[in-house]
Amino acid sequence: MDGTTHGMDGKRLRGLVGGAFDRRLETGWTPRIEHPFFLNPRLHEEHEKAFGEFLSAAPVALEIGFGKGLFLVGLARALPGWHVVGLEVKVKLVKAALGRIDKAGLSNARILLGDARELLPRYVRPDSLEALFLLFPDPWWKKKHFKRRMLSPEQLREFAGLLRPGGLFLVRSDVPMVLDLTREAACEVDLLEQVASPGMELPITDRERRYIAKEVPYGEVCYRRRIGESDRGAAGSAGGAGSGKPGGETE
Ligand SMILES: C[S@@+](CC[C@H](N)C(=O)[O-])C[C@H]1O[C@@H](n2cnc3c(N)ncnc32)[C@H](O)[C@@H]1O
Repeated sequence: MDGTTHGMDGKRLRGLVGGAFDRRLETGWTPRIEHPFFLNPRLHEEHEKAFGEFLSAAPVALEIGFGKGLFLVGLARALPGWHVVGLEVKVKLVKAALGRIDKAGLSNARILLGDARELLPRYVRPDSLEALFLLFPDPWWKKKHFKRRMLSPEQLREFAGLLRPGGLFLVRSDVPMVLDLTREAACEVDLLEQVASPGMELPITDRERRYIAKEVPYGEVCYRRRIGESDRGAAGSAGGAGSGKPGGETE
């Protein structure tokens, strides 16, 4: 277990919030966050173990970049039998979301700090997630930042591999380019098939709440991991057809 920030291909990931953040992670810096639901598997083996157990004990929904956590908390409240995981790269947002989890009295949410591109391949097993949410992701407009976008075919293939067969992948955005890139990339990912809707009512995010108030238009694209012949028995155990859960049938 070390403190470096590397993606699946072993290449060093560029920092998202500046080189200082990267350097602090690499030297084993850990934020002063004392909370039972905040897990730092990169630095604490017992957290890695606890996270593994959390992931295998119930259907899991995971949100990348949860901001202040309105959606995360809403989802955990709506699905008490599920385990909900949030990944976020900013310390102050992690603290804000933990405060909301406490206020809501929830025990089925866990939060990890760091770059999802590094955390997902390291700590989330393939074929394990019931749902994966990427909601209003940063568009990273500058060319030098394109590589931070999580919308390439390679990235979506990796996301799809983390889903259980039938699991949901949903991207919501007010930026048409983000939705277009998702659609284009998903076309190249055999494991993903587009569906008309997530099959359940989902909470809104903090950003979405502002957009609704200001009447800013936004949209979403939804996919499910295809169910292969060999998966048909196993799929649907947690979110099967008509269950009204994110992994359920939508049409
Ligand atoms: C535009 S905000 C949207 C926040 C929230 N989803 C909402 O809709 O209110 C994007 C969020 O993703 C986080 N983020 C960006 N890249 C990330 C990454 N690679 N891993 C984890 N979080 C990331 C940012 O810190 C930020 O909180």
